[in-house]
Amino acid sequence: MSLDDRLRGELEQFRAAGVYKRLNYLASPQAPRVEMEGRGEVLILSSNNYLGLANAPDVVAAGHRALERYGAGTASVRFICGTFTIHRELEAALARLVGCASSLSYVSCWNANEGLCATLLGEQDIVISDQLNHASIIDAIRLAKSIGKCQSAVYRHSDMQDLEEKLRGAKDCRLRLIFTDGVFSMEGDIARLPDLIALSRQYDAIMAVDDSHATGVLGETGRGTAEHFGVLGEVPIITSTLGKALGGAAGGFTAGSELLTDYLTQRSRPQLFSNALPPTVAASALAAVQHLEGHPELVRSLRDNARYFRDALRGFGFNPLPGETPIIPVILGDTAKAIAMSDLLLAHGVFVTGFGYPVVPQGHARVRCQISAAHTRADLDFALRAFQDVGKKLRLI
Ligand SMILES: Cc1ncc(COP(=O)(O)O)c(C=O)c1O
Repeated sequence: MSLDDRLRGELEQFRAAGVYKRLNYLASPQAPRVEMEGRGEVLILSSNNYLGLANAPDVVAAGHRALERYGAGTASVRFICGTFTIHRELEAALARLVGCASSLSYVSCWNANEGLCATLLGEQDIVISDQLNHASIIDAIRLAKSIGKCQSAVYRHSDMQDLEEKLRGAKDCRLRLIFTDGVFSMEGDIARLPDLIALSRQYDAIMAVDDSHATGVLGETGRGTAEHFGVLGEVPIITSTLGKALGGAAGGFTAGSELLTDYLTQRSRPQLFSNALPPTVAASALAAVQHLEGHPELVRSLRDNARYFRDALRGFGFNPLPGETPIIPVILGDTAKAIAMSDLLLAHGVFVTGFGYPVVPQGHARVRCQISAAHTRADLDFALRAFQDVGKKLRLI
């Protein structure tokens, strides 16, 4: 069978199974309301633009200035042909934000996670990962196992007893790395960081937290999961993205000790063999960090908006997962129901994605709402009215 025939056949199966993803094109910046090609104005309830900074004038202007000053990019790898001063400024700001001594930027958090695991872990080491960790952590571990021949184990989601058993079983390893999401992207729940830190100390392990959905979101001033639990500075390694609350363009970083980032600069393959973050993106992300530092009230608005939306959904009789984060999954069970709900909501002018198997376990299909500080109460009420209408039409409430 030719490759084309195989791909055509599989794509047809995706369509038949109702899991084929349609791309919706936007003709305006990412914001609470966007211009969707063929549909007109649509309210977005499925973006990671948690603080509304993707189109903030200072964030956009910083990108413009950097384009003028540095041009389009490094045109090579950082250590080969130079690194821009804006990278150093951004990395200092990110380290300060998340409470670490140092940070190193990557073109994505996916790259940061891969760079971390594959560089640190060898044959004598083990990585122990939460069952619901993001795909980038799972693939980072697969890569590390293939390159470095490290061992790995998975503990049941947020189950500290299971983690402890895995740690006990790994007592002879040279390095035990516990890797967890700070906020789990499909559930919207928060890792049990104080317990994880206690266990990591008890069993002489190192903690890495991927705070992609927590940076700019959790804690009084948006410094992430560690700030939320009052343990800022106590997480040895934090990875995160610049593609969500911090401007939403692209990019990621690994934060930790100076030794760690120095070692990653020397050895992590995405640093050694791939171009640096474009200066426009680095400058916009830096402006986003500064914006966040100057406007901690945004984080409060985000929290208030999320609480308002979650409570209202519950009031209508929906079943959103309980929690404190702006990720609000409404569990519908059946994949077809989640997709039907998402389609009907879009027809009502609300863009929110439905997720089914295999992204989430069978029977746990959902629409996942993500709230932004930039949503006004009128935006949220508009979305809530659409939920109520569609919920009644589908006999969900
Ligand atoms: C927990 C987590 N880690 C990593 C990523 C990937 O981030 P990036 O887009 O910067 O590669 C995501 C994005 O969805 C995420 O949710």
